[in-house]
Amino acid sequence: MTPEPEDRPEDHSGDHPEDRPADHTEDLSGDRPGDRAVGVGPHPHPWPEDPRLDPELLREGDRRNVLDQYRYWTNAAIVADLDTRRHAFHVAIENWQHDMNIGTVVRTANAFNAAAVHILGRRRWNRRGAMVTDRYMHLMHHDTVEALMGWAESSSLAVIAVDLVPGAVPIETVELPRHCVLLFGQEGPGLSAEVCERATMVCSIAQFGSTRSINAGVAAGIAMHAWIRQHAI
Ligand SMILES: C[S@@+](CC[C@H](N)C(=O)[O-])C[C@H]1O[C@@H](n2cnc3c(N)ncnc32)[C@H](O)[C@@H]1O
Repeated sequence: MTPEPEDRPEDHSGDHPEDRPADHTEDLSGDRPGDRAVGVGPHPHPWPEDPRLDPELLREGDRRNVLDQYRYWTNAAIVADLDTRRHAFHVAIENWQHDMNIGTVVRTANAFNAAAVHILGRRRWNRRGAMVTDRYMHLMHHDTVEALMGWAESSSLAVIAVDLVPGAVPIETVELPRHCVLLFGQEGPGLSAEVCERATMVCSIAQFGSTRSINAGVAAGIAMHAWIRQHAI
């Protein structure tokens, strides 16, 4: 397992305003119908004395998509605060073919304050859907299923494979372990057979229509929320 490096120039897709290297440059004017001013402008003087505050944000304003309590905080200070109350579940997603859902998974994992997000397979992934929430998450990479399983075992985490496959137990009725990794497959192939064989448990999300599956990002949100309902509410 390797932590994701802070700087990944090849991964800055860059065409969403929130995906720019500096994420506090959005226009506050909101001059189109439906536009809404995002964030806060420059902080009036005198500035508060607090090491968590970022002088640049105080000077320029803070347009990031963060809770009001984090206004003007440095990214590092926000991560440190989230670290004091991370939940016990991790999220992992297979990325053998550049799955397009990973950004959505990261954003939802941030919203539910997951312990970390693990990418299995290729390192590169499209960050657009993450809406820069990856800055506030711990991201880990594993080259192989073996590596992820070994890491989970050494961390005393149950591996919960989530896919609609024969033998899967309904997530709506099962008791999810508090300390676990929720593991998702890719669009197309779904979860690899090796993952399903080696997982502690395989869970499915009930469907009622004609499609074979739901979007992996949506499935990840439902599964994370199932954990939240059982352990965090
Ligand atoms: C689009 S699905 C994969 C395709 C699917 N294996 C098929 O036969 O069409 C991508 C991933 O989303 C998750 N997923 C989608 N629908 C699901 C469901 N109903 N229950 C559990 N997981 C689901 C799984 O992790 C799955 O590997």
